[in-house]
Amino acid sequence: MTLKLAARLGAVKPSAVFAMAAEAAALRAQGRDVIDLSAGEPDFDTPEHVKAAAREALARGLTKYTPIGGTDVLKDAVVVKLQRDNGLAYGRTEIMASCGGKHSLFNAFQALFDPGDEVVLPAPYWVSYFDMLVLAGAVPRVVETSVASGFKMSPAQFEAAIGPRTVAVIVNSPSNPTGAAYDAEELRALGRVALQRRLLVISDDIYERLTARPVPHLGTLVPELRPRLVIVNSVSKSYAMTGWRIGYTAGPPELIRAMTTLQSQSTSNPSSIAQAGAAAALSGPQDCVVAMAEEFERRRRLVVERFGAIADLRTATPTGAFYVFPDVSAFFGRRGPDGPVRTASEVRPVELRRGGLLQGAIDRRDGESEDDRVRVAPSLRGEACLLAQCREQRRAIPPLASGHLREQDAPVRAETDGGTVANGLELVGRDGQGGGENRDLDLELRKLVGVYRKEAWIPGCGCR
Ligand SMILES: Cc1ncc(COP(=O)(O)O)c(C=O)c1O
Repeated sequence: MTLKLAARLGAVKPSAVFAMAAEAAALRAQGRDVIDLSAGEPDFDTPEHVKAAAREALARGLTKYTPIGGTDVLKDAVVVKLQRDNGLAYGRTEIMASCGGKHSLFNAFQALFDPGDEVVLPAPYWVSYFDMLVLAGAVPRVVETSVASGFKMSPAQFEAAIGPRTVAVIVNSPSNPTGAAYDAEELRALGRVALQRRLLVISDDIYERLTARPVPHLGTLVPELRPRLVIVNSVSKSYAMTGWRIGYTAGPPELIRAMTTLQSQSTSNPSSIAQAGAAAALSGPQDCVVAMAEEFERRRRLVVERFGAIADLRTATPTGAFYVFPDVSAFFGRRGPDGPVRTASEVRPVELRRGGLLQGAIDRRDGESEDDRVRVAPSLRGEACLLAQCREQRRAIPPLASGHLREQDAPVRAETDGGTVANGLELVGRDGQGGGENRDLDLELRKLVGVYRKEAWIPGCGCR
């Protein structure tokens, strides 16, 4: 018997990043030494005072249901946070907690959008926005941005994307996957457009603390937006609490009430113990956030610098978050295990001996074929260090098994639609002649273009 599943799931894809992280975990379980830069997840442990608050909640027997939208203690901690970090005054009735920022967004979309409502979504975007909008029946109006605009949507582009059925815009600054952050002027201009066109603004602030400089907030820049401003945030990234699953929404009370009703019929409250930890994170000492942000900044600089040394790899320096977003299109046409590489999704950088998996491909969900970048998340210490080793400690790279390289030792040329172009293997040949410094670059390059033999490639990440 074929099980009939609900039609609404036909339009939704599983998260490509989680699929890739699962592949990396499976390879590790097989004993492979995999470099996984796919998921955006801090490698730091949750700060000790946060864990202590959760232990205390357990000890005090706070193990029962809480109010659906979270405890007053947590709501008050969000009030403190919004005032301290964003200069915004909110009250308990304007705040609710959910099971992670993703759940907050899901609830908000379900509560706000009717089938056919259009939502402006600047691309490249965090792919879950698209699927969650589709699940709510909304239609994403994707606005293309480019490296030239710093991956930011201009007010003119925003205006042009607004049609009679457009009801909202999503602003994610700093952004996943580009790391781009709007400055105050840019954000104010977008806010004014939203205000004039009477649009809702969903401000996803999840990366706001992971920047070298504080980022401005739409709520303070355009205070008149407040009746239509929906702020979503979570403790996942700033406090290294991805597994705790606490996110929160601040917005108009009628929206909070509607989202709470929705949540009452799905998850009920988020975990009581996790709420206690999140309250301690938001209202307690913040030096841990600063220290982690500085370390992410250091790693991001390191990776951008290392990528800068790889010929043909174009990488803009992101402003925030912990992602690097290199353009790998120059590698297209070079030979991969399944023929010439045509898209970023086919650039599967795997190094067999060390098992490097270095990619989070961007999964476009709006039918666009443009696919020339990969998202790399140097939020994991070991991985970033390994990458650095490629150049800093030559001896750290074990010699590759001769069998893997012998077939690739000679320069090879690959046929593509555009004619004959050099492929990654040619660099191996050049390396053989030049040796020295080139060798390390080539090793990095090989990781990026995946010129290893077929079994080194990890099939089916769900991104193709
Ligand atoms: C832009 C953005 N928003 C929201 C989330 C949700 O995070 P969480 O559900 O862990 O709070 C993520 C997670 O990667 C994200 O990248």
